Formats: sequence, structure tokens, C-alpha cells
Amino acid sequence: MAKAKTFSCSACGASFNKWSGRCDGCGEWNTISEDTPLSAGPATKSLGGKRGATIPLTDLATQETPPPRTHSGLDELDRVLGGGLVPASAILVGGDPGIGKSTLLLQAAARFAGAGLKTIYISGEEASAQVRMRAQRLGLTDAPVQLGAETNLRDILTTLDAEKPQLAIIDSIQTMWADNVDSAPGSVSQVRAAAHELTTFAKRKGMSVILVGHVTKEGQIAGPRVVEHMVDTVLYFEGERGHQFRILRAVKNRFGPADEIGVFEMTGGGLSEVTNPSALFLSERGEPSPGSVVFAGVEGTRPVLVEFQALVAPSPHSQPRRTVVGWDGSRLAMILAVLEARCGIPFAGLDVYLNVAGGMKVSEPAADLAVAAALLSAREDAALPADTVIFGEISLSGALRPVGQTENRLKEAQKLGFTTAIAPSGGKIVGDGGMMLRQFGDLTAFVGDIFGA
Ligand code: TYD
Ligand code: MG
Repeated sequence: MAKAKTFSCSACGASFNKWSGRCDGCGEWNTISEDTPLSAGPATKSLGGKRGATIPLTDLATQETPPPRTHSGLDELDRVLGGGLVPASAILVGGDPGIGKSTLLLQAAARFAGAGLKTIYISGEEASAQVRMRAQRLGLTDAPVQLGAETNLRDILTTLDAEKPQLAIIDSIQTMWADNVDSAPGSVSQVRAAAHELTTFAKRKGMSVILVGHVTKEGQIAGPRVVEHMVDTVLYFEGERGHQFRILRAVKNRFGPADEIGVFEMTGGGLSEVTNPSALFLSERGEPSPGSVVFAGVEGTRPVLVEFQALVAPSPHSQPRRTVVGWDGSRLAMILAVLEARCGIPFAGLDVYLNVAGGMKVSEPAADLAVAAALLSAREDAALPADTVIFGEISLSGALRPVGQTENRLKEAQKLGFTTAIAPSGGKIVGDGGMMLRQFGDLTAFVGDIFGA
């Protein structure tokens, strides 16, 4: 019987048994293509296969303790990895083209090599001479890193087998080409095959592997999403082109907390670590102005203060605009609805723009109250005091909910010279970090007290 064809989406990796123009999984158009089988050999029978070995879970305790993690010395990177590089782990670093992935990984390669790991950096995009030029610019020419420029997967695996590195960096997975798969490099089948070969090879040989993946919005080139399931850790390198800071964010990590971030600054000499991101994100803040509010946020385990900026203006359109940069658009709609329904403050006929300064992306619900404050401050044209930070979640009933890591938030705010914090009442607060706390149980009380509305 002929084997049924299968199809998959290059944007989200969903599988189908027939082709269609639009993916039912993610709604993208023209992303579905036919899968090519990884091996053309005869189908394996279920009987006669080699029996795998199992060991009792309780035996694991008596086995040797795993080798320790390696620290690169770049604290921002080590923290995002969950405290250094785990031996034999597979990591995906995704991001927009040109954001700085190659720069970051060449610097990381040099650091890990310096820390004693045998490291090999394989570029499928640049010639070794170009990588060397970049290394020169980054001042890393002395680093004991092996460079390779290769795209053929078979050749790469042979090299890795011979060299036996402890860490291999593959830049990028989209340029890799497995000769047993007859579709173009960058297609879903190729990306999937290459990632599968490399990760299984790495696990078998006890080598760590870092795969670089470009993300494209159009899904024309297979996004690295199909690879996410195959690796232990998924990191995204984010940032706005116009801004110099870059954020490395853990979105999946088998060896540490997800949501952890590392902050870097792109300079003429490569990426440098930002040890105090709050100071950086607030550096462009001037005199207190209407619509500007400082949110005391937490990313992973680390407090980060960011500025929310709102603009509210009469709309010339029949359908007023709601534009958000750096925050969730549907969450904004919810807060506008709660302000209208619970506090009687309408935004109908008004355009609303909301921006997180510095190109930072915030996803915490704890930012709700800061957003509400920014919107009101812009609407009423009344600036909040410059020494105040805000945090708290808003529920649909208009009640304010306490959020986690309050002390952490207060301490960070105090460190940066703020004196007052507006927060929800309730919740356990062990220490106020020397800050004056103004607590409110619901949005109406907050609006009445702060804006006199
Ligand atoms: P790159 O690491 O090549 O991006 P990616 O691998 O994600 O495609 O970085 C490209 C950008 O970084 C490029 O626009 C130039 C900038 N850059 C610096 O500003 N300083 C530097 O020292 C380096 C090496 C690059
Ligand atoms: Mg690159």
C-alpha cells in the first residue's frame, strides 16, 4: 500500500493529511507544503525492533551526579539558561534577521571556550573569513573557538564526530541541508530533519548544541517553531531596530525558569551586558508629563521598571484607533471596558495610543493598573508625581488583585530613587523597602483618590 502523503505548516508546524491554502492551526496563508519522508527505507516492522533499555527511577539517585553547568561569565546569558549551560542540552535561539543572534553567539562561543569547553562555531551564512572579521571587531581573535563554514549536514556531523566538541553552535538551522531530504534548505522538511539529526547526535555524544533560527512573519522560510518541540530550551532574542537594547528571553526551559530575561546593549564593539535594565529603560524619562507612568514589573526572577506612555485624543474617525506597542492589545481593550463600565469613564470617540518606552515588551497582568493610570493621566491631562511607581492586576469586576513578588518590586523602585508605590490592598507584604505604600481595593477608589474623578 502506498504511504499516505502528509503535509505540514511552516509557520506553526501543524500536520494535515491534505493540502490547503490556509492553515487551520494558525490561520496563515500559503504555508502548507508536502512533507518529504526523512528516510526512504522500508517501513520498520513493529515486531523484531530492538528492545530499548529501561532503568527504575529509584536507581537514578545512585547514579553519578551529572557534570556541573558551565558558566559563560556573561551573567545575562547564564541566568536565562537557568544558571549556565547544561551538558548535552539542545538550545534554540530564535529572532528576527539582523537582530544580533550571530553576534551574541560568537561572543558566547568565545566565553564558553574560555571557560574550558571545546567549542565549534559552524556558520552556514558567512564564510570563515567573514566570521573572523566579526570576531576581530568584537575583540575575540584570541578565543580558542573552532570555526567552520558548512551547510551540508552530513559533512557537519562527520566533522563533529571527529572533533568531539562539547559545544556546537549552528548558525543557522535554515541554511542546513540534509542530502536525504529533497527539498530546498529552509523548508519545513529540511529544518525539521536538520534539527532532529543535530539534537539526537548531540544527546548521543553528550555534546551541547545551540541552533540559531530566523523567524519570519510571512512564514515563507520555515519558522523555527517546528524545532521548539525538539530542544530543551528555547530563547528568543528581541528588540526594536531603532533601539540599542536587546532582550534575550527564555520561553521554554527544561533546566530553569521560563520568562527569565537577559538584557544587552548593541554597541560598536558587539553586545554588552546591561546589569541595571531599569535605569536604562527609564533613562529617557524627562519631567513628569501626562500619560507617563512607571510600572514596577518583574521578568522571571528579576524586577524591571518600565515606563508606560499613553496618548488620548479626540478621534476624527468613526471607529476610534486603539494602538499598542509593547503590550497586549486585547488587554488594553479590557481595561478601557472596565474603566467605562465600573468607573463611568468613557473612551468612546477618543483615539488611544499606548507605548512601552525603550522597545521593551511587557506581558504581566500586573501592569493593568499602570496602564489604567497612564490612560487616565492622558485623558485628564494630569501628570502623576515623578516619584511614584504603580503595579496591580485589574479584574473585570473592577477589583484590584494583589500580584506576586511585591517586595522585589518595591526594593527595585526604592533603589532607583522612587518613594511611593501604588498597589492593590491585601496580599502578603513582608517589607516595604522603605517606600510609602498607597493601597486600593478597587479601581473606583483608586480613580477617585488619584484623579479626583
Ligand atoms: P547579526 O549578529 O549579524 O544579526 P543576526 O545574526 O541576528 O542576523 O547582527 C547584525 C547587526 O548588528 C548589524 O546590523 C550590525 C550590528 N552590529 C553592531 O552594531 N555592532 C557589532 O559589533 C556587530 C558585530 C554588529
Ligand atoms: Mg546571523
